[in-house]
Amino acid sequence: MKEQTFLEGFAVEDFQRDLIHWFEKEQRDLPWRKDNDPYKIWVSEIMLQQTKVDTVIPYFNKFIEQFPTLEALAEADEEEVLKAWEGLGYYSRIRNLHAAVKEVKEQYGGKVPDNPEQFSKLKGVGPYTTGAVLSIAYGIPEPAVDGNVMRVLSRIFLVWEDISKTGTRKLFEAIVRKIISKENPSYFNQALMELGALICAPRNPACLLCPVQAHCRAFHEGVQTELPVKTKKANVKQVAIAAAVLKDEHGKILIHKRDGAGLLANLWEFPNCEVIHSQENLERQLEKFLQEEYGAAVQLGNPFATLEHVFSHLVWNITVYDGKIIGDVAETEQLKLVDEQEIGLYAFPVSHQRIWQEYKKKETGG
Ligand code: ADE
Repeated sequence: MKEQTFLEGFAVEDFQRDLIHWFEKEQRDLPWRKDNDPYKIWVSEIMLQQTKVDTVIPYFNKFIEQFPTLEALAEADEEEVLKAWEGLGYYSRIRNLHAAVKEVKEQYGGKVPDNPEQFSKLKGVGPYTTGAVLSIAYGIPEPAVDGNVMRVLSRIFLVWEDISKTGTRKLFEAIVRKIISKENPSYFNQALMELGALICAPRNPACLLCPVQAHCRAFHEGVQTELPVKTKKANVKQVAIAAAVLKDEHGKILIHKRDGAGLLANLWEFPNCEVIHSQENLERQLEKFLQEEYGAAVQLGNPFATLEHVFSHLVWNITVYDGKIIGDVAETEQLKLVDEQEIGLYAFPVSHQRIWQEYKKKETGG
């Protein structure tokens, strides 16, 4: 086995002791560390994927206040749940979590399974989430290897393989299975995460403060900032969008609910469409779309904002117009005219919250 070559000469017990002692002394006071409720730990781990700890904390507290138990979340409406997630982005995370807690309620009587096979079959639960939740909540010695942990381990074990490859993550999981503390898998895994966050930073690792410096082969060779090796992603796709904040003669604003499938499914947005800069002007393309798709005749004003919104796989370049609706628009389940004060009741993706902020700024002359 390949992991064996990395483990030669590695002082496993000393490493466990140094790492866990440090975590006992230095761990941050984080709200999901206050009790060992598997549901809360699961919520925190899903939030912490793609979102930083500082951003997550207020969302986590509010979410748990609103949905204090797994049952409460399982029984909540999707709209309400999406609203609580608003701003965190990557909404498939919450859709999957919502589906998964419903399954736990129905199949497992509301108890989060403590068995990796069962837990990892739930929606949105991959190997990282399985290891993180089961080790922290139940003390099960499963690896929890995410990008931060790969950075830490690539340095400690001097692994020059590309961490973008699945095989490399598997190698790290195999290494962790060999070195994880069986007495305290929870602290072992959390200590690796904490080390990645507080000491073993991507660019400027604080090696002089590192509790496992003596075990770190990259430090020994002075190559810590060259690791991990990560190939660059292919260029992300650029998509041009024209959007409009449209008012009818009563001052109501037109909003649209996205389809139940695909990017940002079921979230509300200001009417918009993809446009092509090299074709007829953007206003004309947007007007045509609004007429054909929503039966809305509009008079657009000037663009008042251009926004860039970066997803992991694409970038939206949004040009935003204001405008008036001429005549009537037929409201449907997916197309509504709402009062300005009601906008806050609907779950919008971050990009469209920014459109609304820009609009308000313009209206109030700010
Ligand atoms: N990042 C991912 N999971 C974490 C956790 N449990 N504590 C701190 N940072 C994390």
